[in-house]
Amino acid sequence: MSDFATQIIHWHHQHGRHHLPWQGADAYRVWLSEIMLQQTQVATVIPYYQRFVDRFPNLSDIAQASEEEVLEHWSGLGYYSRGRNLHRAAQQIMQQHGGIFPNLYSDILALPGIGRSTAAAISAFAFQQRHAILDGNVKRVLARFCAIEGYPGDKKIEAKLWQQADRLLPQNEIKTYTQGLMDLGALICTRRKPQCVRCPVQKNCAAYQQQRVASLPTPRQRKTLPEKSSAMILLISDNQILLEKRAGSGIWGGLWSFPEIQGCFPEIEQSQHVDAYCTRHLGLESKQSYVSLPMFTHSFTHFKLHITPLLLHLPGKPKQMSELGKLWINLEDALGAAIPTPVRKILKSVQMLRQE
Ligand code: ADE
Repeated sequence: MSDFATQIIHWHHQHGRHHLPWQGADAYRVWLSEIMLQQTQVATVIPYYQRFVDRFPNLSDIAQASEEEVLEHWSGLGYYSRGRNLHRAAQQIMQQHGGIFPNLYSDILALPGIGRSTAAAISAFAFQQRHAILDGNVKRVLARFCAIEGYPGDKKIEAKLWQQADRLLPQNEIKTYTQGLMDLGALICTRRKPQCVRCPVQKNCAAYQQQRVASLPTPRQRKTLPEKSSAMILLISDNQILLEKRAGSGIWGGLWSFPEIQGCFPEIEQSQHVDAYCTRHLGLESKQSYVSLPMFTHSFTHFKLHITPLLLHLPGKPKQMSELGKLWINLEDALGAAIPTPVRKILKSVQMLRQE
């Protein structure tokens, strides 16, 4: 066994995390936790994970639920394709594997939303199978330990890191090793201020020896993120607000949001867009007046979105409102729907305004 693996395993026994709620759980729970942990930190995941398993104690509960309800429980975690894929994967497991979570690595890898590293983590934690992981934290650990230069997201660099991940894998204790590697990345070999004095593999770490820990892994050449603007129309009648369901598989596909005017317009043009929306979709005739709430910015991985909420009170609910994918909902209930984070923020600020 490599010294590296021996030291990681030994360190994990003494200093690793042993009480995460999914540790020692069945394959379904391990899978769920690994999907949630793909882009989100442990502390954020824990309450979502617990609510999720309370509502969906078995894989079949997810498969039988609507996508809507799965997304309701995902609401706020972000990267909603994970929630949609979870639902699809559960149905696939019901149909193709008789409802039993598959234990063959190739079958796990074939499920929607599961890449090579996630399949390896599930195989290790649920079935004690020997496969290498390489998530964001582990890329950093190995880029430093082996002093691999270049941005780890580049295919060539990633391939080098996979080679090392495979090479360092122990023959035994795969669960402890895998969790140890994750914990080392999360607790010691952090992006900023790594604690090399506490690191079990410091002695053989190439970056440490060469005093390059601070400069490895090589950061991505940052292009400035593109910026987009949009206005969101908050139509309120009595205590209800209008939500629209986003179609397709885009970032907010399947989630409820507000009617949106994409782009940034001078005031007059904006009010024409709002009027056009009210006429076309709500059958309202007269010109509507509204107030703009302060603009705020939401950052996605690939762009920034500047959002201006426009608050528009209607005297009564329009009659022409039975269009599919539109919903009048009580303000309080809206917070329990499958909504993205900026919509949640806006709803909360509207509630505050109404309480003033
Ligand atoms: N990140 C990804 N999977 C994890 C796990 N099982 N425990 C802690 N952090 C993780």
